[in-house]
Amino acid sequence: FAPKQLVGEHVLVTAGPTFEAIDPVRGITNLSSGKMGFAIARAARAAGAEVVLVAGPVHQPTPRGVRRIDVVSAQDMLAAVQQEAEAATVFVATAAVADWRPARSATQKIKKDGSGEVPSLGFVENPDILASVARSARARDGQLYCVGFAAESEDLLAHARAKRERKGVPLLVGNIGPATFGRDDNALLLVDADGHRELPRASKQALAQQLVAEIATRLRHTRSA
Ligand code: C5P
Repeated sequence: FAPKQLVGEHVLVTAGPTFEAIDPVRGITNLSSGKMGFAIARAARAAGAEVVLVAGPVHQPTPRGVRRIDVVSAQDMLAAVQQEAEAATVFVATAAVADWRPARSATQKIKKDGSGEVPSLGFVENPDILASVARSARARDGQLYCVGFAAESEDLLAHARAKRERKGVPLLVGNIGPATFGRDDNALLLVDADGHRELPRASKQALAQQLVAEIATRLRHTRSA
């Protein structure tokens, strides 16, 4: 029995890595498995929300009852998120968005020409999807509650606090090491305006349910404020 804590809410989740093309057969990505984001989408659906999941390239089954939009690059993810955020009341950004993309993506495969010369890659910064949504009018008016994630290798609390401020989100969730990518378990550090608390190590699905409950509590508070 799952308590229906999110009935009437529209939850938008990003998950997985992004893939930034170098040419039609090569690109840059990272080791995000998408497990945490998919677990959150599943838990939000079980709690009664309508759920849209914007997923980078991952091998995860779509949770039952969840509308999934597959994207490749950070720019694709931003476009999908901006469109879906218009109807959302909660946005949870778990995606490990590539910070940079190749400045130019070749339309044809880059060939080895036998000279031993190697191509050089220039990069440009990708848009910050979470920060851009958190700056939107609906988020600033309190109609859209934004949650960010942070994966840090040291000083998690300090970095999570700073990231919460920088991104302009009410709730920032830190992944407590060791590196969580691909694992089935995790431990989370929740940082909000009132302080911080830890959700001890558990399966990502159990943590997702606890996080959904925490979000539901905070929504009730913001709505009644
Ligand atoms: O700055 P950093 O990448 O550590 O921030 C992590 C948080 O911001 C995560 O919630 C992630 O999904 C989100 N993010 C994003 N777009 C980016 C970079 C990060 O939405 N380009």
